[in-house]
Amino acid sequence: MKAAVIRKYGTQVEIADIPRPALLADSVLIEVHAASVNPIDGIVQAGYLKEMMPITFPFTMGFDVSGVVVEIGDQVSKFKKGDEVFSRPNGMQAGTIAEYAVIKEEELAIKPPNISHQEAASIPLVGLTAWQGMVTKGNLQKGQKILIHAGSGGVGTLAIQMAKHLGAEVATTTSAGNAEMVKNLGADVVIDYKTQKFEEELNDYDLVFDMMGGEIMENSFKILKKGGCVISIKGQDTKGLAEQYGVRFEGFYMWPSGEMLSQLAQLIRDGLLKPVIDRTFSIDQIQEAYAYLQTGRAKGKIVIHVK
Ligand SMILES: NC(=O)c1ccc[n+]([C@@H]2O[C@H](COP(=O)([O-])OP(=O)(O)OC[C@H]3O[C@@H](n4cnc5c(N)ncnc54)[C@H](OP(=O)(O)O)[C@@H]3O)[C@@H](O)[C@H]2O)c1
Repeated sequence: MKAAVIRKYGTQVEIADIPRPALLADSVLIEVHAASVNPIDGIVQAGYLKEMMPITFPFTMGFDVSGVVVEIGDQVSKFKKGDEVFSRPNGMQAGTIAEYAVIKEEELAIKPPNISHQEAASIPLVGLTAWQGMVTKGNLQKGQKILIHAGSGGVGTLAIQMAKHLGAEVATTTSAGNAEMVKNLGADVVIDYKTQKFEEELNDYDLVFDMMGGEIMENSFKILKKGGCVISIKGQDTKGLAEQYGVRFEGFYMWPSGEMLSQLAQLIRDGLLKPVIDRTFSIDQIQEAYAYLQTGRAKGKIVIHVK
């Protein structure tokens, strides 16, 4: 089958002809229709996660998928051949930028019927990250004030919509050119990070959802009310700032979950959450897709069209 692979750490992604992955008893074989790329792909490719996430080569890239079930493993009970599904599979097991992928049943959800495979492939990794950050970790409540950094990115565009759905007041940072887009997604306050300092504009916030780390994460503590919380998917509070400010800090890595993805699928079915796609590339244009991702300027997601 055709797949986007790396042959060793630090090398360019290439299109190769490799065997289909073997079906496992707890998994399904999916004919992939679409996948998407994420900043983590570049981190894996560079070898930064060598210890945490050992991989074998050639390694098929991709951590998001939407497609159709074509075979099921012996232990699989919730899915059947022909189901349209989407997933953020565990990275060690399945690469998704390929014609077929083997995905564990527990990491799968039925694709919302009202969106295309390309739209569905844009959701799992960033959608689960946003939900886990703001709801599971951040316990975001109706009426609370949240700052979502990088509201125009893959995670941010979904996070804004979810926070509004939960009844929060949402501020977000982005550059001026994206202000209209994030307002349309529901942001109440937009801070242009190139000309404004969010820490001088905002105060009394309950939650900050941080994707940037570094100084941006550190300054985020300044806008919280006592008992507030910084949730970061990029940095760690190595300076003990949470204690200093009398707030909470949590840094985390997102985790795959078919059950949680089903909840997001319901929001999509109900029209409460909409995919935001910047560009779509074919699998043969994978290097261009990664080059665009690396500019860091994506507005929403970069999707890979496979079938
Ligand atoms: N821990 C985890 O489990 C986890 C999960 C998912 C993602 N992440 C991390 O979270 C980060 C965001 O992921 P993503 O998929 O959303 O990335 P992305 O889609 O590539 O983000 C691009 C967006 O970031 C905005 N941006 C860049 N610099 C900014 C700044 N200084 N202030 C505000 N906005 C800025 C850009 O807007 P402009 O063009 O206007 O600059 C662009 O729209 C990445 O570092 C990723 O590795 C971690």
